[in-house]
Amino acid sequence: MAKTRTAFFCRECGNETARWQGQCPACHEWNTLVEEPAAPKRAKAAAGVSASARGGYGPVAAPVRLRDVEGAEAPRWATGLAEFDFVLGGGIVPGSVVLVGGEPGIGKSTILLQVAGRLEGASKRTLYVSGEESAHQVKLRADRLEEAAGSVTLLAETELDSILLRAAELAPQVLLIDSIQTVYTPELEGAPGNVGQVRECAARLQRFAKQTGTAVFLVGHVTKGGGIAGPKTLEHIVDTVLYFESAGGLDNRVLRATKNRFGGVDEIGVFRMTAAGLAPVGNPSELFLGERHGGASGSAVVATMEGTRPLLVEVQALAAKASYGAPQRVSTGLDHKRLALLLAVLEKRAGLAFGALDVFLNVVGGLRLAETAGDVAVAVALASSVFDRPAPSDAVFIGELGLGGEIRPVGQVERRLAEAARMGFKTAYLSPRAVPKTLPPGIRAVAAEDVRALVGLIFG
Ligand code: TYD
Ligand code: MG
Repeated sequence: MAKTRTAFFCRECGNETARWQGQCPACHEWNTLVEEPAAPKRAKAAAGVSASARGGYGPVAAPVRLRDVEGAEAPRWATGLAEFDFVLGGGIVPGSVVLVGGEPGIGKSTILLQVAGRLEGASKRTLYVSGEESAHQVKLRADRLEEAAGSVTLLAETELDSILLRAAELAPQVLLIDSIQTVYTPELEGAPGNVGQVRECAARLQRFAKQTGTAVFLVGHVTKGGGIAGPKTLEHIVDTVLYFESAGGLDNRVLRATKNRFGGVDEIGVFRMTAAGLAPVGNPSELFLGERHGGASGSAVVATMEGTRPLLVEVQALAAKASYGAPQRVSTGLDHKRLALLLAVLEKRAGLAFGALDVFLNVVGGLRLAETAGDVAVAVALASSVFDRPAPSDAVFIGELGLGGEIRPVGQVERRLAEAARMGFKTAYLSPRAVPKTLPPGIRAVAAEDVRALVGLIFG
């Protein structure tokens, strides 16, 4: 028998290379290459050949003129789980494939079972395929959920063709696969969970979705090590990628869309894990400000945008005398280079000295400040810690800092101010050019030209 051709695949990004390397040449991760059988070459597809003769590919498609394609905007199925629908862009799109990634134990199975339960409640047929847990285990979970998940049909199966066969028989409107890393096809050599298997199975589920109009959800565990292909290897195959992360305390979860063919990216949905499953949090700002106690130095609040949604987030800084060697710069939730830049601007333009200080910066709640709109809040938190005097606790800071120390306007100021007013903040510090003509009731704007003026205004 001929020896199977093998290649090396990165289990982070799925890149294929002929030889082993310590670092993946595509995504630059270290020690992620694993040897796997290379995918067999398929026979060339020929018109008129049946699906089975084409190795699982569907019938040959006929070209159509675009104006003859029926239907306008795709209808959507709302699950009624508000935050979930919001992140998807307004509900589930028929025929779409959604990847739900996240670390084991974060709540992927829970939320998908809730979604299936709600869809059943709205007279949509669902098929929940579990390759990780037995029917009994899934039932126990279903019993704890608020949703009536009892009418969800469960299939404990991991072989792809059997899954597709059952799905064709039952013709569900929504098919949920938990997880894609347990599904395999015997047509490929190599164990379930390896890059080749995961990709091939996802690609065939994708074709099934497009041909039948079934919406397919794929669970993908984020794994560190273990030779299992991560969800990143599938991102290009699917329509929508959602990541589930913990944030803002132990029980809080953020669902984030990082790719969406049917909605905005970077939208987030916030949930809390309860005894009865995941409950949407309608007021995320409250959650990220939750534990704030006014009166402490080194704290400032920014009104940041997460997708189209404004969110108030606390930034904490601690500047303390460095005891050993070179001072430390530790930052959580803000890019290290951005912190270095802001420290340099504060030194040069506001006369603050950080040379002998350790600097720790933390964006509360595990959120990442990706926007430069947080610059001013970071600067105020740092200055507040240096002076050891609290910034006003009912103020928000909105703006980017330039290298000259100037405060620059940022986008969507109205929405940020509205959220700040809604959360009871009384003052907003921003660039004179960013002050809108009308302010939401209850909040006043204080304009500051540059960081020196701002520090003067606040700390005298
Ligand atoms: P799970 O959905 O199994 O995570 P994943 O599929 O991403 O691996 O969630 C597991 C955790 O959630 C587990 O630690 C128990 C907890 N949990 C609750 O707190 N409440 C609940 O109602 C359920 C179903 C789970
Ligand atoms: Mg699970």
